[in-house]
Amino acid sequence: MKKTTKIISIIAAALIAVLCCGCGGTNNTDSTADNASKGSMTAEEGKLVMATNAEFPPYEYLEGDEIVGIDAEVAALIADKLGLTLEIKDVDFDSIIPGVQSGKYDMGMAGMTVTEEREKKVKFSTSYATGVQVVIVKEDSDIKSIDDLEGKKIGAQQGTTGYIYASDTPENGGYGEENVTGYQNGALAVEALKNGKVDCVIIDNEPAKAYVAANTGLKILDTEYVTEDYAICFAKENTELQKKVNDALEALIADGSVKQVVDKYIKAD
Ligand code: ARG
Repeated sequence: MKKTTKIISIIAAALIAVLCCGCGGTNNTDSTADNASKGSMTAEEGKLVMATNAEFPPYEYLEGDEIVGIDAEVAALIADKLGLTLEIKDVDFDSIIPGVQSGKYDMGMAGMTVTEEREKKVKFSTSYATGVQVVIVKEDSDIKSIDDLEGKKIGAQQGTTGYIYASDTPENGGYGEENVTGYQNGALAVEALKNGKVDCVIIDNEPAKAYVAANTGLKILDTEYVTEDYAICFAKENTELQKKVNDALEALIADGSVKQVVDKYIKAD
C-alpha cells in the first residue's frame, strides 16, 4: 500500500471508529443486549454456517449422513454459547477460503493450518489444535525415510499444506510439482496409494493415523516437519463474528471443553 493511501485509510478507520462509538452508545447501554443472535454478523440471522471438508478424521468425517469429529463438536459448542444454530456445509477443501471471503460461509473450520499466505485472504481465530505433516507409505515400500522421496510419485489433498510443501521446488525443500498429484480429498489420495498410482501420501498426522488404522498394509514415516496450528477462518471484514467466536473458543479452551472433545477423538498413544 502506498504511504498516502495508508494514511488515508488510517484516518478513515479512525473516523469510522468514532462515528460507530457515537451512534452505538445508545444501543449498547443495555448489557443484556449482548446476545449474538440479535446481530446480523452472520449471513443469515441466528445461523452460523461453517464450511468444512468432511474427509479428515478425526477432525471431520461422515458417520452416515452426519458430519462428526472434533471440529464439528467444538463448532457446536461455540454456536451454543452464542445462541446460534450451527449449519455445517461439506465442500472441497480448496473452496473453503474463497467461500468464506465472499460471505457464502460465515466461517471455515477444517483442521485448517494457519499460514502466511492464507492470512492474506482470511482472518484466523486463536489456534485450538496442532498437526504435523507425515508420510504414509505401503508397509513393504522402499521409501524408508523422507530422504527417499526424491523422484517418487507423491499424493496429497489439493490445496492443503501437505500439497503445498510437496509441490514446492527442491531448493525450498519440496519435490517439484511434476511429482505431486493432488486429490480431491485424503481418502482418494490413500486409495491411489493402495492402487499403486502414487508411492506415498503426505497428509496431517491424525488423519494419517486414522487412514492407516482403517486400511491394511500401510504405515507412517516420521518426519521433522514443523508443527502447524489449526484455527477457524473468517472473512477479514467480519470483525464482529471473529471476536464473538474467538471469545467463545477461548472460553471453551480455558474451561477444558475443547480438550474434552479432543480426548474423545484422539486417544493418547
Ligand atoms: N492442515 C492442512 C491444511 O490446512 C490440511 C487440512 C485438510 N482439512 C480437511 N478438512 N480436509 O492445509
